[in-house]
Amino acid sequence: MNAFADVDRSGRGPELLDYLDDAHRGLAAPKRVMRAGLTVPAGHSVLDLGCGAGHELVELERAGLRAFGADSSRVMLDASRRRLERLGLPVRLVRADAQRLPYADGAFAGCRIERVLQHVADPAAVLAQAHRVLRQGGQLAVLEPDWGSLVLASDDPEAARIVADAVGARVPHRRMGRDLRRLLIRTGFTDVRVEVETVAYASIAELSHVISLERAAQAAWSGAAIARGRAEALLREQQELSESGAFHATFQRTTVAWARRAGAAFR
Ligand SMILES: C[S@@+](CC[C@H](N)C(=O)[O-])C[C@H]1O[C@@H](n2cnc3c(N)ncnc32)[C@H](O)[C@@H]1O
Repeated sequence: MNAFADVDRSGRGPELLDYLDDAHRGLAAPKRVMRAGLTVPAGHSVLDLGCGAGHELVELERAGLRAFGADSSRVMLDASRRRLERLGLPVRLVRADAQRLPYADGAFAGCRIERVLQHVADPAAVLAQAHRVLRQGGQLAVLEPDWGSLVLASDDPEAARIVADAVGARVPHRRMGRDLRRLLIRTGFTDVRVEVETVAYASIAELSHVISLERAAQAAWSGAAIARGRAEALLREQQELSESGAFHATFQRTTVAWARRAGAAFR
C-alpha cells in the first residue's frame, strides 16, 4: 500500500509525520526555490493543497499571506493545527479530497501543491480543481519528484537500469516530475515554467535518505524484472563502490513548475 494515498488508514501516521519533518529539512533548497517563484502579493489567500503537517502553511503566513490548508488526512490536519496554534497563527484547514474541493470558484490568488499529485488516483482532476479555485491571473506552484529518474553507475548497466526502474514501484504516478508540464498545459494553465533539480550522490548512505536500493532491487526481482542473483550482485557491487568512494548515482529529486490561470494579473 502507498501510505501517503491514505495516511489515516495506513496506521503509519507518526512515521509519516517524521518523514515530512525530515523532508522539510532535506528539501529546504528546492522548497525555497518553489516559494520564490510564487509571487502572490501579501494579504492575498493562498491554498496549500495536500498541506500535510503544515510546514508550508507557516511559511505562507510568515510571508504575509492568508494560508489555507486542505488535506484528506485527519492525522495530517491535526499536526497542521498543532503547528499553527503553537505559533499563534490563524488556522484555516479543511478535510477534503483534492480531486473534489469544497471551495468556491476563484477563491484563491495562489495555490501550491507539493508531493501530492504522485499519490492521488487522478492528478489531472487535482490540477483541474486547482485551476477552478484560482482567480483569473492566479498563480500555481507544484513540486514533485521523478522516481523513474535514478541513474546508477555500474559494470552491469542493464541490471542497474532495471533496479532503478523499480524505485517507487508503489507510487501510482511515480514519474510525476516529468509529467507536470504536459498536465498543466492540458488543464489550461498558461505561462508554465519548469525547473529540475538533479542531485549527485556519492554513497549509498547519502542516497538512502531518499531511495532504498535494497527495496528497489527486491521490487525488481519479485516482479520478475530481473533474476534475484543478478540483482543481489548489483547490490554487492554498489556497496563495494560506496565503501571505496567510487559510488555515483544521479536523481532528479525535484521538479518545480509554476503556472498561471489565464486572465489579467492582479496586484
Ligand atoms: C508526501 S505528503 C506531502 C505533504 C506536504 N505537501 C509537504 O510537502 O510536506 C502527501 C500529502 O498528500 C495528502 N493527500 C494524499 N492524497 C490526497 C487527496 N486525494 N486529497 C488531499 N490530500 C491528499 C496526504 O494526506 C499527505 O498529507
